[in-house]
Order: sequence, then structure tokens, then C-alpha cells
Amino acid sequence: MDKRIILGLILTLAVALLLPFYFFNEASRMEAAGLAYQAESAARGVILYKDYCAECHGANGEGEIGPALNEKRFLSKAHDAVLFDIIRDGVPNSAMPSWGQARGGPLTDQQVLDLVAFLRGWEPTAPLGKTADATPDPKRGADIYFATCIACHGKDGKGTARVPVALNDQEKLARHDNAWFFEVISKGRLDKGMPTWGKVLSPKQINDIIAHLRTWQTTAAITPAAQPTPTTQPTPTVTLVVTTTTAAPVGAVTPTLVSAAASATPTLPPATATATARPVKLAQFFPASKPSASKGEPSYTSRCVTCHGPKGDGKGSKASLLDPRPTNFTDPSKMRGENLEKLFDAVTNGVPNSDMLDFKEKIDEAGRWDVIAYVWMTFVNQPDKVTAGRAVYEQNCRACHGDAGQGDGPDAQALPTKPTDLTNAERLAALSSTELYEFISKDGDPLHSFGQKLDEDARWNVVSFVWTFVFGK
Ligand code: HEC
Ligand code: HEC
Ligand code: HEC
Ligand code: HEC
Repeated sequence: MDKRIILGLILTLAVALLLPFYFFNEASRMEAAGLAYQAESAARGVILYKDYCAECHGANGEGEIGPALNEKRFLSKAHDAVLFDIIRDGVPNSAMPSWGQARGGPLTDQQVLDLVAFLRGWEPTAPLGKTADATPDPKRGADIYFATCIACHGKDGKGTARVPVALNDQEKLARHDNAWFFEVISKGRLDKGMPTWGKVLSPKQINDIIAHLRTWQTTAAITPAAQPTPTTQPTPTVTLVVTTTTAAPVGAVTPTLVSAAASATPTLPPATATATARPVKLAQFFPASKPSASKGEPSYTSRCVTCHGPKGDGKGSKASLLDPRPTNFTDPSKMRGENLEKLFDAVTNGVPNSDMLDFKEKIDEAGRWDVIAYVWMTFVNQPDKVTAGRAVYEQNCRACHGDAGQGDGPDAQALPTKPTDLTNAERLAALSSTELYEFISKDGDPLHSFGQKLDEDARWNVVSFVWTFVFGK
């Protein structure tokens, strides 16, 4: 054979054998270059982070005013592109500014990328969830207070010209328990200019602030200071304990109303002849006028269906990708314990650590109530149950509560207490179906001991029907 052909064959073979090694090397070479580039980018990010972010997110990303960024769940869920967008654009209506020059901030796109690379570096070792000590710390609270509250409430809580509301008022500190402060601070009073801090501060941070406010208190508390634990969601309700003058139950030391919302409540339940106090919960979020399920339907179809599904069972097309899964609104074991106010809060502010976004910007307030009306009266309280419940209502409740639920039935006049107006959304929005069910099933209550008279289905159905009074067409 021609020597040149043999040589050619050998060379071809050699190339064929060596080529993969070359590719292999090239790939790892490129990977190495990529890693080096990432490392450089992250190194630049460290400096930017210290300058611009540590103040709110903590030196090690543990979270201060802003949420913890050094957190496994968050980092594993947020893609680089998502982090990039958040940092460049900020979070509207929160303390998180937009940093990108494109949005009027100080940072170039490359610098935002550097920050993303730096944050990403935490992922492998990031702790899962909050590891911080849960005991409220007045010193930390003071720091947060100085960073977020003094502009309006002043250094010593005396109030300012801008907001002449004293937080260091002894009477106020003694009268209100920690749960009350937690509620006011996390919910805010937007209409009066008090921001909603629950969106910006973690429950732990709010408890820290309360511990700081308590350092101003020199008089003893009248109400025991119950400590809301940082893990529980703040209950979005205000509890008014109305005690009768005759026999006040143990524990209720004061005959006054144990709530600030007292002055704001138009309808206090009249004192009944019964000696026990019944706590009445009023919602802080409730619709101003009757929400409409039919108006809410198009919103549901366009904005909620991909996750919660056309049947409301949580089986939308995107659902299998999500953890936690979208709520199944047709699951009674979950939904009977929920209340309208909580749903409104979820739709308005989103659900932390889930893909449930906030719709505050996208749907106006009335529209959010409409979509809740649709969810509540279509999936949670299904139309056939409502129809069955109407018959139960007419037979058992109408005589007192009236045709339209307003408490003006023919038997109402003879009663010492006016039947509750079931169209009162402020009252109903704070109650769950389970609470209503239990209320009408109580043995020994002369008006509502339906436990013996009606079977379970009939009682659940009438509860489903009662909700129609809160909503319009
Ligand atoms: C003045 C305080 C403040 C500063 C400074 C700040 N942030 Fe934030 N940041 C926040 C708050 C508050 C939130 C929560 C916003 C929300 O979702 O309501 C947030 C949210 C975030 C989130 C989303 C976290 C999540 O769990 O959804 C990222 C990422 C983030 N910030 C990164 C940064 C980076 C990077 C910087 C520095 C360039 C920075 N932040 C500076 C206050 C701040
Ligand atoms: C932008 C101004 C502003 C900031 C910042 C602010 N508040 Fe307020 N706050 C108000 C206003 C206004 C009221 C009064 C609302 C009213 O009249 O019902 C108020 C009321 C309160 C109340 C209820 C007092 C009462 O007597 O009813 C508490 C508690 C409170 N703020 C705590 C805080 C805390 C804690 C912070 C910091 C995390 C804070 N606020 C930050 C404006 C502000
Ligand atoms: C991207 C997916 C997604 C979209 C779109 C979405 N949701 Fe959700 N939603 C979720 C997930 C996931 C949860 C469960 C959160 C959890 O369990 O922690 C949830 C929870 C909720 C809850 C809280 C239920 C409860 O009882 O706590 C309500 C209410 C709700 N969604 C209503 C809506 C409405 C109304 C819309 C449309 C305006 C909507 N959602 C759009 C994913 C979504
Ligand atoms: C004999 C008259 C009477 C009948 C019948 C009656 N109620 Fe009532 N209901 C009242 C009165 C009076 C109140 C307010 C006093 C109280 O709280 O006990 C009330 C209160 C209520 C409340 C308010 C609960 C709360 O926590 O605010 C609900 C809900 C209710 N009734 C539902 C029903 C349902 C459903 C039926 C029929 C199955 C029914 N009632 C039958 C007289 C009646």
C-alpha cells in the first residue's frame, strides 16, 4: 500500500481519536472561563451589595427591613432573570427602590448582573427559612423603629407635626395588648396615612418594634400582653369583647371595649339578657358595596384560571409546576375555615412564599371583591348547595332574619335583641363558614340550637345561602 495513504489513515485516526479530547478540554475550558467570569462579577457585586443593599437586607442577607435574600427557598425559586428584574425595577409600593438606571436608579445593567451573581453565590449554603431567634428583641426593634417610623412618629414616639399621634401615650400602651399593636402596624390605616407595614416588615420585625414600644411603658398593662408568635399570620380581624354590666366573665377586667376600632364600629351588638360576653369580630377589609360574582367572572377567567383551574379545583394548566399548589377552592376541609377578609388579603397582597401574586396593581379594589364573590359563590359555596340552603332558610330563619337577611322578619320585634343583619359585610367578612355553622348548631342557645332540628347537610347548605346576602347579583 502507498505509504502516504497509510500515513493519511493513521493521521485521520489520530485526529478522530483526539478530537473528543479537544472538545472535552474546550468545554471545560469554557466552563472554567464562565466560572471565572461569574466569580469576577460576584466580586464586584459584593461591593455594590455593601453600599446599596446591606442596610435593608442585612450584611449577610439575613433580612432587616427587606426580606432575607440569603434564603434557600427564595434563591432556588427565583431565576436570575427574576432577580435581575426585581433589582432593576424595584417593588412598587414597598421600600424596595428601583436600582436600574433605566428606572432612574444608580446602577448599570452590568452592575445589576453583578449583584445577581453575588446573591447566587449564597444559594449552596443558604439556610432554609428563618433561623433567627424568635424572641422579640427591643434593641433590634429600636433600630427598625429609627429606620422606618420616626419620620412620622418621632424619636420618642411623641408624634410629629406631620402625625400628631403619640405612640408613647401611657394610657394607650396600657390599654392595648401586643396583638392590637401587631394588627395596627401590619395592616396600617391607609386611609389615614399609616402605611401597611406587614408587607414590608416580617412578623418578627414587627414584634421587635412592639418590644421597643413597650420599653416606653411605665404603667402596668390592663389587658394581658399576648405575644403573637412570628410564625402565625396576623389574624385580619379585630376582636371586640363586649361585656355586660351584670356578670363580667373572669379575665375581662375592663368593662370598656378592648379595641381601637370601637369608636369606628357603627353597630355594636346590644347587650342581651344573657350574662356571658360574646366576642364579636369585625373585619378590617370588607367591601363598601355589594360585590358581584358575575362581574368577577371575566377577571377569574383571564387572571386566575391558569393556576386555580376553570373549576376552581386548583388544577389549572400551570398548577403542576407550582409548589405549593394553587388552592383548591372546592375543598371544604380547607375553605370552610377561611373568611372573605383573608381571601381579599391574599388577592390584594399575594401569599408569601408561593406563586400567588398580589393583584393590588392589576385589579382595583371593587374588582378584587368581585372576583372573590365569584370564587366564593361558585366554587366554595356551589350553586346547588345555595339553592338547597334557601329552602332551609325560608323555613327556619326568615321569620327572624327577614327576606333579605336584614334582621327585620315578622318575629324580630318580639325579641329583646334585634337579629343580626346578615348583609353586614363588615361583620360577615370576618367569619368563616365553620364559625357560622357552629353558631347555628349550639345546644342550649334558645335561638340557634339547630343541631337537633337540622341535619349536617341542611346546616352547611343554609350557611352557603347566608353568604348570598353579602353579595349582589
Ligand atoms: C430601603 C430598603 C431597601 C434597600 C436599600 C434594598 N431593598 Fe431590596 N427589598 C426591600 C423590601 C422592603 C423588599 C420587599 C418588597 C416586597 O415584596 O414588598 C425588598 C425585596 C427585594 C428582593 C425580592 C425578595 C423577595 O423575597 O421577593 C430582592 C431580590 C431585593 N430586594 C434585592 C435588593 C438588592 C440587590 C438591593 C441593593 C441594590 C436592595 N434590595 C436594596 C427593601 C430594600
Ligand atoms: C408616613 C407616616 C407614618 C409612618 C412612617 C408610620 N406611621 Fe404609624 N401612623 C401614621 C398615622 C397618620 C397614624 C394615625 C392613624 C389614625 O389616625 O388612625 C398612625 C398610627 C399608628 C399607630 C396607632 C396609634 C393609635 O393611637 O391608634 C401605631 C401603633 C403606629 N402608627 C405604629 C407605627 C410604627 C411601629 C411605624 C414604623 C414601622 C409607623 N407607625 C410608621 C403614620 C405613619
Ligand atoms: C401563578 C399562579 C396563580 C395565579 C395566576 C393565581 N393564583 Fe391564587 N394562589 C396560587 C397559589 C400557588 C396559592 C396557594 C398559596 C399557598 O397555599 O401558600 C394561591 C392561593 C390563593 C388564595 C388563598 C386561599 C386561602 O384560603 O388562603 C386565594 C384567595 C387566591 N389564590 C385567589 C386567586 C385569584 C382570585 C386569582 C386571580 C385574580 C389568583 N388567585 C391567581 C397561585 C395563583
Ligand atoms: C327566633 C329568631 C331567630 C331565628 C329563628 C334565627 N335567628 Fe339568627 N339571630 C337571631 C338574633 C336575635 C341574633 C342576634 C343575637 C345573637 O347573636 O344571638 C341572631 C344572630 C345570627 C347570626 C350572627 C352570628 C354572628 O356571629 O354574628 C347568624 C349568622 C344567624 N343568626 C344565622 C341564623 C340562621 C342561619 C338561622 C336559621 C337556620 C337563624 N339565624 C335563625 C335570631 C334568630
